[in-house]
Amino acid sequence: MSNRMWGGRYASGPDAIMEEINASIDFDKALWRQDIAGSRAHVAMLAKQGIVEQADADAITKGLGQVEAEIEAGSFTFSRSLEDIHMNVEARLAEIVGPAAGRLHTARSRNDQVALDMRLWVRDTVDQLDGQLRELQSIMAEKALAFAGAVMPGFTHLQSAQPTTFGHHLLAYVEMLGRDRGRLHDARRRMNECPLGAAALAGTSFPIDRHATAAALGFDRPTANSLDSVADRDFSLETLAAASICAVHLSRLAEEIVLWTTPQFGFVRLSDKFTTGSSIMPQKRNPDAAELVRGKSGRVIGALNALLIVMKGLPMTYGKDMQEDKEGLFDAMATLSLCIAAMAGMIRDMQPELKTMKKAAGVGYATATDLADWLVRTLKMPFREAHHVTGRIVGLAADRGVGLEKLELAAMQAVEPRITAAVYEVLGVERSVRSRTSYGGTAPAEVRKQAKRWLARLKRE
Ligand code: ARG
Repeated sequence: MSNRMWGGRYASGPDAIMEEINASIDFDKALWRQDIAGSRAHVAMLAKQGIVEQADADAITKGLGQVEAEIEAGSFTFSRSLEDIHMNVEARLAEIVGPAAGRLHTARSRNDQVALDMRLWVRDTVDQLDGQLRELQSIMAEKALAFAGAVMPGFTHLQSAQPTTFGHHLLAYVEMLGRDRGRLHDARRRMNECPLGAAALAGTSFPIDRHATAAALGFDRPTANSLDSVADRDFSLETLAAASICAVHLSRLAEEIVLWTTPQFGFVRLSDKFTTGSSIMPQKRNPDAAELVRGKSGRVIGALNALLIVMKGLPMTYGKDMQEDKEGLFDAMATLSLCIAAMAGMIRDMQPELKTMKKAAGVGYATATDLADWLVRTLKMPFREAHHVTGRIVGLAADRGVGLEKLELAAMQAVEPRITAAVYEVLGVERSVRSRTSYGGTAPAEVRKQAKRWLARLKRE
């Protein structure tokens, strides 16, 4: 049998392989809520404009309610021969309402319909991710406030650099997640134009009111060019790009958690709820959730790349290639959502090992910069010279196998005679972090201020 929706000129139905490659219902059924919402707004507008009779519109609206209830209840039968969600919903509507259902598709095409559904879906998902990210930020900012003074090593090149605090480190990620949310907000703002009414590509000869449907569906305005409306998926690309950057941030934090939970580092302890054991090695507490967040970021980045490649050679306007926009996007958004949830759970229960971190903070001559700064401040030495002098003192300490704070004064004075015992005051890690009071610096008082600023802001958002 030829297709009821478009098979007027067809003598036969599609080959089984044609149906297999063509059907998208197995994944685009995820769009059912958006599809029904779009149809409701469309038919209400058609009636208001006198394009369909009010009685038909009422029957269609009622029928859509029944379709919605059936899908919600799980009693709806999705059919592959009906290709996609749009035709599945409409075919069932026709069974419920009769021939009047056929009026719903007046002044509409699946091209503007799917563009609309996707925008609505991405918009909903962005809002949900934003809420999750806000929650994760709150958890991290609370932890940062509690551990603003917990000294830990700061690294560059993964080599001991300068002491910092656990709170300061967590707030670095709060900032990154804040920018991730900003990118999602930007994407949302740009995508919030309604493509419905672009029809197949050129608009329609019916006197539709695109401003009305746009407003009814919560859009800021209708899109201004019908060709662009059905041809682009940049809203998905932009969201995937923002999601990819966010996934990279989560992956870096995950990598740090993996490192921190090794017995060699021992900086933090994850709860039992977020670790797994080994079937052969009884001592193991593996940070699988963190490893999976790190691993799953690849899927999100992959989805962005896949869609960029799908889109890059398409002539205007719609091409069926664009049906390939869905699976990767859906998977990427679900993956990111799961990763945020896992990270929130891990961080909420995570216990920093304060003694271990503090001890590690002093390893590797991490207060050498404090010594150089002391020489600049106290002896008025130019920084470059102070750097050199400090380097020689570090060399002496390394030869003797001691930390700077354990190196005797005479040894330091052999390098620079003007050094006094007062220098030892700046060589401890506590003192080092407390001294870094510049705006955004690692001093616990500054970290507390920033954590409170975030917590107040997050409460308002
Ligand atoms: N399932 C299709 C998609 O996702 C819907 C649009 C189909 N339009 C068409 N003219 N065949 O892209």
